[in-house]
Amino acid sequence: MASGDPGPVAPFPRRRMRRLRRTPWLRALVAEHRLHPSDLVQPLFVCEGRGVREPVPSLPGIDRLSIDQLLTVAERCLELGIPAIALFPVTPAERKTPGGEEAWNPDNLMCRAIRALKARLPELGIIGDVALDPYTTHGQDGIVREGVIVNDETLVALRRQAVCLAEAGCDVVAPSDMMDGRIAAVREALDEAGFADTVILAYAAKYASAFYGPFRDAVGSKAALGAADKRTYQMDPANVQEALREVALDIAEAADMVMVKPGLPYLDVVRAVKETFLFPTLVYHVSGEYAMIRAAAERGWLDGEACMLECLLAFRRAGADAILTYAAMDVAAALSRMR
Ligand code: PBG
Repeated sequence: MASGDPGPVAPFPRRRMRRLRRTPWLRALVAEHRLHPSDLVQPLFVCEGRGVREPVPSLPGIDRLSIDQLLTVAERCLELGIPAIALFPVTPAERKTPGGEEAWNPDNLMCRAIRALKARLPELGIIGDVALDPYTTHGQDGIVREGVIVNDETLVALRRQAVCLAEAGCDVVAPSDMMDGRIAAVREALDEAGFADTVILAYAAKYASAFYGPFRDAVGSKAALGAADKRTYQMDPANVQEALREVALDIAEAADMVMVKPGLPYLDVVRAVKETFLFPTLVYHVSGEYAMIRAAAERGWLDGEACMLECLLAFRRAGADAILTYAAMDVAAALSRMR
């Protein structure tokens, strides 16, 4: 039967769609999609120091955490059934350079945090971004020559950064820079260095979005970036066919999983990517999307928890296998209360 074709069934009044919506158990029985903590990834920000939990004003509920605090929060993620975290560093200004060399310093904040996490919580998955923006004085994801973000020279840096993360124990490296050829370059570098099992999650369709603002506050790249933008490498929000070409290339270059970013304004892209490639497809519910709901909830304008659950369910309905969201821990806690 064609989907949506009602077939030879009786019409109203014998057919009543509301019959199956009458009780919670019936609604649960016929629910097509479900949220589960095992499909959530919690992004976390790590900073220098000890005992530091510094709130990010534009990301209510999210703190910059020193490594000791990070361990506590990461442990809580596991308790809540969240299998993995996406870790981002707040690089001290004095360690930033135009070339972002700190990105492959084996003793940088990321590597120290990953080693500490792996020692204490070996079963927790760690996803590490491969991109230079937390480490560059100009806040761009690549190397800049005479005002141009140069692709091929950046690949050399990304290869080093990916191997450095893998050596520290990072399970999944996630190139988020949108340089051409980066997935093949990173895969080759990892394999040559003996990291054939390190997974690549490609930020395959990443748009030049205004919704990244609070993230850039959190890692301190907003001030560095100033009035500049990332439109010569991140995608134009007008495009969906181009997203499919980007995903096709990343899969051809041996990406293990692909991601669409941001999330809610790009549900059509999530759907198209999933249906076209039948490949593990993640979605990033980015900082600005989270902040909007939290800000409205703080004013009493929305029920924050209900809106968050509804948005995340929409990702699953659109075809996402897993979701990176700042609300992961809150949602996992809410889901366990609801059971
Ligand atoms: C860095 C990176 C960004 C995000 C994830 N990795 C920001 C950017 O590209 O400027 C955004 C995440 C978010 O907004 O939650 N390449």
